Amino acid sequence: MKKLSWGMIGGGQGSQIGPAHRLGSGLDGAFAFVAGALDHNAEAGRAYAQSLGIASDRAYGDWREMLAGESARRDRVDLVTVATPNATHFEITKAFLEAGFHVLCEKPMTMTVEEGEQIVRAATNSGTICAVNYGYTGYSLVRHMRAMVARGDLGNVRLVVAEFAHGHHANAADADNPRVRWRYDPAQAGVSAQFADCGIHALHMASFVTGQEVEKLSADFASCIGSRELEDDAMVNFRMSGGVVGRLWTSSVAIGRQHGLTIQVFGETGGLRWAQEQPNQLYWTPVGGRVQIIERGEANLSPEADRSSRVTVGHAEGMPLAFANIYSDLAELIGAAKQGRPADPAAMLCPMAVDGLRSMAAVHGAVYSARSNGEWVDARPPMLRG
Ligand code: NAI
Repeated sequence: MKKLSWGMIGGGQGSQIGPAHRLGSGLDGAFAFVAGALDHNAEAGRAYAQSLGIASDRAYGDWREMLAGESARRDRVDLVTVATPNATHFEITKAFLEAGFHVLCEKPMTMTVEEGEQIVRAATNSGTICAVNYGYTGYSLVRHMRAMVARGDLGNVRLVVAEFAHGHHANAADADNPRVRWRYDPAQAGVSAQFADCGIHALHMASFVTGQEVEKLSADFASCIGSRELEDDAMVNFRMSGGVVGRLWTSSVAIGRQHGLTIQVFGETGGLRWAQEQPNQLYWTPVGGRVQIIERGEANLSPEADRSSRVTVGHAEGMPLAFANIYSDLAELIGAAKQGRPADPAAMLCPMAVDGLRSMAAVHGAVYSARSNGEWVDARPPMLRG
């Protein structure tokens, strides 16, 4: 089958997340990287795009030039990834959706709930796919956790405990470093720092794995480094649509923790534990039994796990392959739409704009709650309240 074509905005030279998108999109050979507006500096972006093999007429100086250029082509890109700083996601994503492009937007999808609702509407009205890069849901064993919960291995789920706690902003002497400081400055970061940056990954994963939505929450935010206006640590209690009790801790001052994303699910008949830094093992404990280690790639896992696993058991898979699973889902969804056939249901696990919207409602709800002594608040976006 002919490759789909792919373009990226942001993700320029030296960026944190650009390389993972390039690796992830290219891994299965489903996408060809043909266009980009990769940098806030037009010349640097054009030069870097060409150094990556993009033709000069598709190495754009900025996203508006790319929108005009790609819209005018018969062979326009099939998918655009938006990997720019947070405050720019809304404007760029909305413009591309309205012009009929499928988009994969980095998290957080928008800065406000209202913007999130506009993105959901824009995708619906234009009939386009708008996915959001909760890329850690692409790990094979995270998908297997979801499948185990869905098929009832744990019985009714009672409790989900999610953490995303790292220690990379714990050094008070480095707090004024401009690369760190902006993240805790409301003028640049918005209403929330650590919860909006990392906490939403953990919160979304709690929904992904349990198959339930966050309905209400109560938050406690702290700025452990006193000069910070926004939180560098947060504890959020929540309740889910099917009655699951949720606990979430996120921090950037947890010295000794690296990436720090973990998820645990406890049901009536067993418990599961998975950590992003050891993604090839899933710990399963049946009630009254011993801990068992489920290995990625072993026989008799769920179809969802098999579809998202690429090398044989015992060989480590990591983060770019999780992102590759998001791209593989999108390739299937876009390919099916182009060919007018139903998509493989297993490809429908890719997080979508509605998930990005739910996260924004949770962020704003948590900020309100934290300012109101932990008052319990409705965590659902207005357009999704029954
Ligand atoms: P970064 O600051 O390392 O890189 C940003 C890149 O975007 C730079 O190349 C910059 O020149 C470019 N850029 C800035 N404004 C632009 C514009 N208007 N047009 C075109 N290019 C522009 O940022 P980083 O860490 O790569 O984060 C980018 C986004 O990815 C953020 O929204 C962040 O939250 C998200 N992210 C997501 C992760 C995930 O696991 N899903 C992990 C890390 C970041």
